[in-house]
Amino acid sequence: MSLRLIANWKLNGSKEFNDQWAQEFFKNFSSSNFKSIGIAPACIYIDHFRKVIGECGIEIGAQNICDEDSGARTGEISASMIKDLDCKFSLIGHSERRIFFHESNKTISKKLNQANNNSVMPILCIGETADENQKNNTYDVLESQISEALQDLIELNSLIIAYEPVWAIGTGKTPNPEEVNTVHKMIKDVVQSRFPKIGLKSVLYGGSVNSKNASSLFSLEHIDGALVGGASLNGKEFAQIANILNELY
Ligand code: 13P
Repeated sequence: MSLRLIANWKLNGSKEFNDQWAQEFFKNFSSSNFKSIGIAPACIYIDHFRKVIGECGIEIGAQNICDEDSGARTGEISASMIKDLDCKFSLIGHSERRIFFHESNKTISKKLNQANNNSVMPILCIGETADENQKNNTYDVLESQISEALQDLIELNSLIIAYEPVWAIGTGKTPNPEEVNTVHKMIKDVVQSRFPKIGLKSVLYGGSVNSKNASSLFSLEHIDGALVGGASLNGKEFAQIANILNELY
């Protein structure tokens, strides 16, 4: 499975939202190829959303998993639990988790391990802050996020990395697509040279992606797809982004 377009619904949604979203999405998606699309609703709606979309081939995943498999971790959800719900992937280390829940690269590494042990595809999220970007520290920040997250996982069957500059998330600002392409190439080079036994499937871009800027991003060599927040909450808009991706691949 190689996901190219993932919706991160964050702390949004309801049963009614799921129904309306699916109606809008299916009305506007112009292909029958759903295989590279993933949706990460709030965990509590996973089963409901699966019933709403049926067996169309869209993968459902989680926005987060616990770094432990079971035990005294009130409120947490493990990789084995989401696997039990037939989830194929989980976001790991999203910047909102790093900022609001103080997740360290060490914790993120443990979460990657949990995902790997349960055959859940990890989507490792990395990205620099505005300050780091302005100081030209982007490469160093990304390199250390990658190295620290992967250092205890010499082997990992499959991994997707999402490059999400923190300053581009929910702001309407996006880096120049050529810059994103160069950063993605660097991410691929770092993983391939330092972690040759890790199967990096794709590098997605996230941060203010919408149907207007999608084709300028997707047309570049190293931008394999996108992780979409705000624009993914609208079924029609997300279908339009998916249509653009389908036309290019
Ligand atoms: P936006 O698309 O709303 O900028 O969010 C991106 C994101 O955080 C996806 O994980």
